[in-house]
Amino acid sequence: MAKSNKLPGYLGWPIIGDKTHDFLKNPVKFFEKYSEVYKSAIFLTRLFNKPTIIVGSYEGVKQVLCDDKAEVIHKFLADQFSKDNLHSYELIIERIINEEMRSLDKTSPVDIYSFFKELSSLICFTLFLGIDASQSKELIQELTDLTTIQWHGITTFPLNLHVRRHSSLRFRRASDAKTDLLGIIKKQRPIAQCGFVKQVNNVPETNDDSYINSNILVFISSLVSKAIASYLTSFFITTGQNNHVELQEKMYVDKNLEDQVLLETQRLYPPFVCGRKLAKTECIIDGHKVPEGYSIIYLTYAAHRDENIFENPNDFNADRWNEFSKKKLFTFGDGPRSCIGFDIVMSIVKSIVQRIIAQYEWKLQTTDVIQYKWFPVIRPNTPVCVEFSSKVEIRHLGDQHFTRF
Ligand code: HEM
Repeated sequence: MAKSNKLPGYLGWPIIGDKTHDFLKNPVKFFEKYSEVYKSAIFLTRLFNKPTIIVGSYEGVKQVLCDDKAEVIHKFLADQFSKDNLHSYELIIERIINEEMRSLDKTSPVDIYSFFKELSSLICFTLFLGIDASQSKELIQELTDLTTIQWHGITTFPLNLHVRRHSSLRFRRASDAKTDLLGIIKKQRPIAQCGFVKQVNNVPETNDDSYINSNILVFISSLVSKAIASYLTSFFITTGQNNHVELQEKMYVDKNLEDQVLLETQRLYPPFVCGRKLAKTECIIDGHKVPEGYSIIYLTYAAHRDENIFENPNDFNADRWNEFSKKKLFTFGDGPRSCIGFDIVMSIVKSIVQRIIAQYEWKLQTTDVIQYKWFPVIRPNTPVCVEFSSKVEIRHLGDQHFTRF
């Protein structure tokens, strides 16, 4: 076995030594504080009343993600969303964006997280459930309400050790919402005309209905649309500051730069700041021995700002991607359990970004330092508004000028 060092940190007594509250309040501050105290980016603590290893070094996060084991079902799902199968989804995405972008309010500033959350939900309901949004406004509203109720129940329940009366009521409502959602999925599967539901109906080995239905339930959950909205929100905040109008124009003519800005956005603001795993056997992570049964929380946010890998890690610098490999990010996980939705998410995000870059200039309506919420996805603590103004492109002998109208 490789040589290992003793884990820095302090486990503390059960219950009274538990640090869950501090961690959930601000996982980034928590990591910064204790990694400084223990002089290590990997340390032991007690969360959810369990011995937990926090891993925030780049190498450590890579090992946690790559040592995981994939299940056979991963491949089946990954195939459904592979680049080869993406074309039919892209047509759906384009159609929705064409219709919905018209509602982007050009006269008053837009609360961007809410706007993108609504747009992403609509895209997910159509892509994964095959619903025709223009024909099914009531169904879309019902799905939005049910996925919200279900989400509130999930976040209430296992985090509260003592289930208060109102919490158990929320949990029951969430469980009812889940039943209703599964009912809609079962009804929709035989009649869907497009999307993932229609595609899996044509695959012979998918006769395990409950497996397919439970995956559709995850794909249409508000967590997925929140994550897409988080990514888009971070992009338009970072590129909407006063001094970024020039950057917006450059991205319009240079797709490579647009890709680099998208990468730098996910480096600094990965929608999921952290993830959780369980050490099924004793293992070594970044030179430290982790006992069997310990929880491991890996911090994508911290690994993306590891100064051993990224120079001046807190600076927004899209140019760093001239030399770097895309493999260096953990936004969508890594290794055998990495996100099967990566290609489809990038297709959604790029379609929206390209549409907006082509038609609008945008400007953040605040100069204040933005405070963030961390769970379930990174997003501004209070609504942040962006003003979108249409632009007319005037070409003069190859030069490009943009004017407002
Ligand atoms: C911005 C949006 C998204 C982000 C940031 C994201 C991120 C991630 C991450 C970090 C993981 C790895 C978790 C871990 O190993 O601890 C993951 C796994 C997964 N993602 Fe995504 N995801 C997104 C959207 C989607 C979408 C749209 C789908 C559905 C098509 C999807 C389906 C999955 C599945 C099924 C897994 C589990 C794979 C496995 O365990 O084998 N994700 N995602």
